[in-house]
Amino acid sequence: TRVLVLNGPNLGRLGVREPDVYGTTTLGDLAALCRDTGRRLDLAVEVRQTDDEAEMLRWVHEAADERVPIVLNPAAFTHYSYSLRDALAQRTAPLIEVHISNPAAREEFRHTSVVAGVATGTIAGFGMMSYVLALQAVAELVAEGQA
Ligand code: DQA
Repeated sequence: TRVLVLNGPNLGRLGVREPDVYGTTTLGDLAALCRDTGRRLDLAVEVRQTDDEAEMLRWVHEAADERVPIVLNPAAFTHYSYSLRDALAQRTAPLIEVHISNPAAREEFRHTSVVAGVATGTIAGFGMMSYVLALQAVAELVAEGQA
């Protein structure tokens, strides 16, 4: 099973970006971790990152058309992008929302996710392990015939 791991704005800066919050793992390291986890779970994982909302929407449309599950860290889009939410509402396969930090324990504006309501579920606060747990969830859904 193919899985897209999509990352939103500023996540290309992982490793140098607020390391106290996001750690020192780079996007390249994270991509390798996701691909390795995928191999272990028999999932073909493709990792992408964009700062561009339009590009993110195209990827979400592509996944809907091809019935591909998504693990998504929408980054700041989480908190305000109704166009991303509307794109995700068209999904035809599971959607796991992930966050590295725990937005509920941070500033007030991070407490709202406009994406959560159209996701299968959300995993937040486990650092890079959030992605590993999300891929495990996808593998479980595939095993149950739900993906
Ligand atoms: C984030 C949390 C968001 O609030 C923030 O805008 C991000 C990263 C996380 O992974 O913890 O860019 O999605």
